[in-house]
Amino acid sequence: MDGINFDSVLRDLQKDLKPYDSSESNFVKIPEKGLAQNTLLDTISNYAERENSPWKDGKVSGAVYYGDEPLLSFYEKLYHLVSQTNALHPDIWPSIPKFEREIVSMSASLMNGGDGVRGAVSSGGTESILLAMKSYRDYFRKKKGITEPELILPSTAHPSFTKACEYFTIKPVFVEFDENFRAKVERVKEKINANTIGIVGSVPNFPFGTFDPIDELAEIAEDNRIGMHVDACLGGFIDPFVRESGYDFPTFDFSLDGVTSISMDTHKYGYAPKGTSVVLYRSGDYFQNQIYAATAWHGGIYFTPTLLGSRPGFPIVAAWAAMLLMGREGYRNEAKKILDTGDFIKKSVRNISGLKVLGNPLWVLAVSSDEVDPYLVWEAMSKKGWILSGLSNPAGFHLALTHRHTLDQVKEKFVSDLGRSLDSVRKGEVKSSAMAPIYGMASVLPKESTEVFLKSIVEWLYSQ
Ligand SMILES: Cc1ncc(COP(=O)(O)O)c(C=O)c1O
Repeated sequence: MDGINFDSVLRDLQKDLKPYDSSESNFVKIPEKGLAQNTLLDTISNYAERENSPWKDGKVSGAVYYGDEPLLSFYEKLYHLVSQTNALHPDIWPSIPKFEREIVSMSASLMNGGDGVRGAVSSGGTESILLAMKSYRDYFRKKKGITEPELILPSTAHPSFTKACEYFTIKPVFVEFDENFRAKVERVKEKINANTIGIVGSVPNFPFGTFDPIDELAEIAEDNRIGMHVDACLGGFIDPFVRESGYDFPTFDFSLDGVTSISMDTHKYGYAPKGTSVVLYRSGDYFQNQIYAATAWHGGIYFTPTLLGSRPGFPIVAAWAAMLLMGREGYRNEAKKILDTGDFIKKSVRNISGLKVLGNPLWVLAVSSDEVDPYLVWEAMSKKGWILSGLSNPAGFHLALTHRHTLDQVKEKFVSDLGRSLDSVRKGEVKSSAMAPIYGMASVLPKESTEVFLKSIVEWLYSQ
């Protein structure tokens, strides 16, 4: 790999990504005799103790969206009741599709959807997005005879869209963002052609936490009779409450005629445990193209609404319970706390000369600098225990605020650590991190070389 020493990158990554390899026992074969439950519990609690403390202390970006003890204990009780359920068998567990129907309809009502809205509960945001893109591909093949489908997406859209393009042979057509880090509407218009099946917009996008102009994008989609997917994976359970919390917010949901599908993640700000997201369509015509039905199988009638076959019932039950436990009031209160925390941090960072917040986000805050290398500030923050997400083009890092950051003194600590990190970079005390060269490389090397490099790292991660 040009200019990059693979072994030295792996050595740097080893301590973060494979920290236990030398210190703990590694199993490479199933032991002849099983181990005692206590031994296993001890082993796992060692890992859990170490790994849970950063997020409990509010030092992690995103990842754990709630995490308070009473809610975790409640989920444990639910798990005990439904651990054996499988959504693949509605004949054995008819309560599971009932919970799903209710999740879909409660989510649709948050998104101002009418009675015609259909959808399903998937395993996460990525699966919801894969499903929506597959549905558009098949719908527009039948409806308009499109055999070489193209999808227009802002370069800030989540990689699950390009993953969908790769899986389902759709051509991704990227548009740039403007000075406010929002998709350039004029560029979207220019890219539409007879093969376009849909447009994507995010509220907000992951990297910069900024909001694409969904109203304008939806109008273009409607004029051209194509799909418009709103990625509210990150925002679906906060967006509906932003205006009520006293902040400006544009219309983004099914109340815009051109919006044809929405993804929103119950396992993020819906506060359910990991393993669920909701994909919604304006009508059953799109949803029909998501469903798989095997017609001539020796194993009898087989159908699945989502990508998976067997689907654990627990995440579905827990997502349903989370929505009812929170209620609109609970979501509204959490949203307000997160938005106010975002406002505090945004204003404080803007007061630190040498750092800047990119665009005008609300609660996913991207930080960069015109004065110092932002990756060094990111590295200094890591040394202080913060686990933040790196960004590229422009270089920076972000903090996605969750309930953990609304806890006592967390926002103040973030701001003071940020100021001190900048100072130590200015003093030349911070050396480059393991990740910075990878980010730097990704922005200069050809796409193919970066891909080979990243895939080798993943193979290394999954090798003993
Ligand atoms: C805007 C956005 N869309 C989609 C996804 C994908 O969600 P998941 O990681 O649950 O697959 C994410 C994840 O962070 C996201 O931020």
